[in-house]
Parts: sequence; structure tokens; C-alpha cells
Amino acid sequence: MSPLRNRIALLHGVNLDMLGRRDATHYGTLTLTELERAVTGFAHELGLELSAFQTNSEREFVEHLHRLPAHADAIVINPGAWTHYAWAIHDALEIAGLPAVEVHLSKVDEREPWRRVSVVRDLVLACVSGQGVEGYREALVRLSMALEG
Ligand code: DQA
Repeated sequence: MSPLRNRIALLHGVNLDMLGRRDATHYGTLTLTELERAVTGFAHELGLELSAFQTNSEREFVEHLHRLPAHADAIVINPGAWTHYAWAIHDALEIAGLPAVEVHLSKVDEREPWRRVSVVRDLVLACVSGQGVEGYREALVRLSMALEG
């Protein structure tokens, strides 16, 4: 059964528009368009609606978060490198006040030490990393359960 609140915002931050040109050992070979298509498919299987957004502008990302409560019930967020230092994104996610799951394509905890820091970790229901595109399916399952509960 689909949850009553079923609108998921998929947010990708800085450099994720370059998927397909980035190190395939960490990020796989899918382009962002292909990844979004796959995640939209996962969402529909779960009875969820997905809207995707990507920007390389931290200002646009923050302002998108400010507007989100009018359009979305939950968030899947991969802020890219902003994850590790962009406290304004922490605060904007807190202002949005929606259930969120953090996703990373790569195993952020097994790479450079600076990638182990996440400024959003205290705000999210879960963090899924190192599972490639499948990690987004897990994030959607987590949010679907949260929206039903
Ligand atoms: C990433 C991991 C970040 O450390 C990196 O800066 C990215 C992508 C990931 O999906 O694995 O751009 O968030």
C-alpha cells in the first residue's frame, strides 16, 4: 500500500551532475540522468512520487530546501562534497524539517579521513553509503516506512 504522504525530493549537490565522468571505481558509470531514471523506477515500485533536483550552487541548494515543505513529504539527499563542510546546508535541512535519508554512492567512511565527517548526519534517519544506485532504493524503503509509521 502507498503511504498517504508519498512525495519524495531527491537532492543532489555539487559535482553530481558529472556522474559518468567521475571515478567509476567510486561512483559507477551511470550518468545523473540514468541514475535519476533508475531511482524514479524504485520510487514507483514503492508507490512514491519522486522529483529530482541538482545544482552546483550552494545558494540554490539552500533556497530549494527552504521551499521544499510546500512540495515534498521526505528527502533523499546526497550533498556531494558539501556533506563534509557546508554547515549552511545542515541548517537549511533542519529548517525544511522533513524526514530525510543521506545517501552516498561511494564508501565515504573508507576513503580519505575528511570524507568521514557529515554535517547532516545528526538530522537524517539513516545514512546509506557504498551501495551505488541500490543505496537509493534502501533510502526510499526507509522513508516509505517512516511515512507510513
Ligand atoms: C559522494 C561522496 C563525497 O565525498 C563526494 O565529494 C561526492 C559524492 C558520494 O556519493 O559518494 O561528490 O557524496
